[in-house]
Amino acid sequence: MALLSPSSLVVLPLLVLVAMAARAGVATLLYDQIDITWGGDRSFFYMEQEGVDVLALCLEQTNGGSGFTSKDAYLFGRFDIDIMLVANNSAGTVTTFYVRQLIPSPPPPRPRRSACIGRRCVVLVSLMPDDVPWPYHDEIDLEFLGNSTGEPYTLHTNVFVNGAGGREQQFRLWFDPTTDFHTYSIEWNPKHIIILVDGTPVRVFKNDASRDVPFPTWQHMRLQGTLWNADQWATQGGRVKTDWTQAPFFAYYRNLRVTPCAPSPGVAWCGDEPRESTWFEQRLDMAALRKAQEEHMIYDYCVDEKRFKDKGFPKECTME
Ligand SMILES: *[C@@H]1O[C@H](CO)[C@@H](O)[C@H](O)[C@H]1NC(C)=O
Ligand SMILES: *[C@@H]1O[C@H](CO)[C@@H](O)[C@H](O)[C@H]1NC(C)=O
Repeated sequence: MALLSPSSLVVLPLLVLVAMAARAGVATLLYDQIDITWGGDRSFFYMEQEGVDVLALCLEQTNGGSGFTSKDAYLFGRFDIDIMLVANNSAGTVTTFYVRQLIPSPPPPRPRRSACIGRRCVVLVSLMPDDVPWPYHDEIDLEFLGNSTGEPYTLHTNVFVNGAGGREQQFRLWFDPTTDFHTYSIEWNPKHIIILVDGTPVRVFKNDASRDVPFPTWQHMRLQGTLWNADQWATQGGRVKTDWTQAPFFAYYRNLRVTPCAPSPGVAWCGDEPRESTWFEQRLDMAALRKAQEEHMIYDYCVDEKRFKDKGFPKECTME
């Protein structure tokens, strides 16, 4: 997704907002934690109550969407945010919350080609290496796929490591995510990635790097959130399109909490946690996870036989 210049936010309300926060003596405003990095001209912050500001991301046909990126980057951590999704007819819209590796990441090797005119040959180095794989792309992804009024949202999740994703699991939310804020969380530690909805774990991706399953372990990640149009595929497989007469669409974010990863006592940092340590296991309620998956999971790549019948299931799907 293209990252455009910072938004031209209206300055005055923001000054007021910052002044209010300063007066209340409160610590963290979303406004201070993130930058609007994409299509921000109609997005805005407002003060919901003292010390709690809300970001309203805006999607209209002319901007194609908008998004934010956290100012800080993290290597492991727990990220909680409250989101209220696009209401009523949200078909075609996608609201996201994800972490991805710091941008820019180390530059991928550039493709070299040579061109010869007569006997003179030159090496051409492409400045836009679009055609090389995305070897450093790490991402842990929550995407909320909108729907027609009254039809359920889908929570689509994925994990990309070293440029490869294809690890989709989808869930039906068990509440109306458009009338209230709900808390969505990514816990990323050296042992596993856990995705939680209102504190209930719905997905776990284990670190089995020692058995050659890719896992993000070395790149700092930034948090991002976006609201964009994906009506080619998002709703009922792309059959239901965005109804632009309903635009502008808004999704609301508040209360971003970032908790640094804490290793077990005596260990210097999370990356050093001994392999045999069970420290991070206590953060995962397996019974709750199984129950949530039984009740709410609607797609799991690990059981999609049709998809993998030729090349076989990814390694992590066949390991205990
Ligand atoms: C959704 O529909 C209800 C009922 O028609 C209306 O009151 C409300 O304003 C709509 N919400 C949005 C965000 O358009
Ligand atoms: C939208 O609603 C339809 C009908 O209930 C459902 O089949 C579909 O999975 C829902 N979600 C999306 C993203 O299409």
